[in-house]
Amino acid sequence: MPAISVTAPAKVILFGEHTVVYGHPAIAVPIHELVARVTIIPQPTRSGPPEIEAPQIDLRTSLDRLPPEHPIVRAFQLVAEALGLDHWPALHLHLTSSIPVASGMGSSAATAVALVRALSAFMGRPLSDAEVCELAYRLEQRHHGTPSGIDNTVITFDRPIFFVRYQPVEFLTFAAPLHLLIADTGVKSLTREAVAGVRQRWEKDPILYEARFKAIGELTRRAKEALIRGKIEEVGTLMTENHRLLVEIGVSSPELDRLVKAAVSAGALGAKLSGGGQGGIMIALAQPHTAHLVEQALYQAGAVNVFSTVIPAPTSHKAISP
Ligand code: PMV
Repeated sequence: MPAISVTAPAKVILFGEHTVVYGHPAIAVPIHELVARVTIIPQPTRSGPPEIEAPQIDLRTSLDRLPPEHPIVRAFQLVAEALGLDHWPALHLHLTSSIPVASGMGSSAATAVALVRALSAFMGRPLSDAEVCELAYRLEQRHHGTPSGIDNTVITFDRPIFFVRYQPVEFLTFAAPLHLLIADTGVKSLTREAVAGVRQRWEKDPILYEARFKAIGELTRRAKEALIRGKIEEVGTLMTENHRLLVEIGVSSPELDRLVKAAVSAGALGAKLSGGGQGGIMIALAQPHTAHLVEQALYQAGAVNVFSTVIPAPTSHKAISP
């Protein structure tokens, strides 16, 4: 049983967060520069429960000392059930992540995917992508409440996706690369609370909220076409329109609005919050020659960190069942 090291990427949602929970489409892409990493080392000279180390959260313990609802314990349980194992050999599991937590970049889903992949591969029986996706979803349910499944899906399959809940995932080919700036407001926010807030407001005024949800769904379908045809300016315009509708459903914040405005004023083609909102991150679509100006403007408008990335134009466009 050799040592194994597995990574899972971060993600951003380009269109359709929140409304994806209600069955409308969303588009998400993996971000490879940030990852969760799980390394497992066999300990053949020792017996006893797995040792767990996650230095960033000051965790150094053995599996049996963690509470049963702990996500790492759940990951061990789910993988053991899937593989039909009744015990784990002695091992040392090391978990680190460069993905900011509670920021809308999929940190919990990336950790879940990396744990499930690493544990099953370590046992010599790597689970398929569809199985990893399903188990990571079940881990996310603990964390999130009622996740749509978009985070675990884009992170497992590691490609741009057009995602509609309960439907086969569609992989997208973008005709042109996307130059994205990802800016962190520095405000931590819990997706679970943002999602619950939308639900309360929707229950109070379903007609108004349904109309807003539908508008986001429609613009997400237009964005898909624009992305696969390389109409980058239209993608930008639709991003800013998506942000305006996210403001209307109450998931933005003064910090996010300030960053979106600053990015567009500095020449971004479009900008919006991304993920749960009410803090966390926003994204701006830049052109290569204006990216540095947009980045400067974001810092001036209060971003605590700005990260620049290019989503490449991949090579195929087809629908498959996960
Ligand atoms: O905050 P994040 O990155 O976990 O994004 C969640 C996206 C939502 O649509 C708000 C919730 C969901 O489950 O899809």
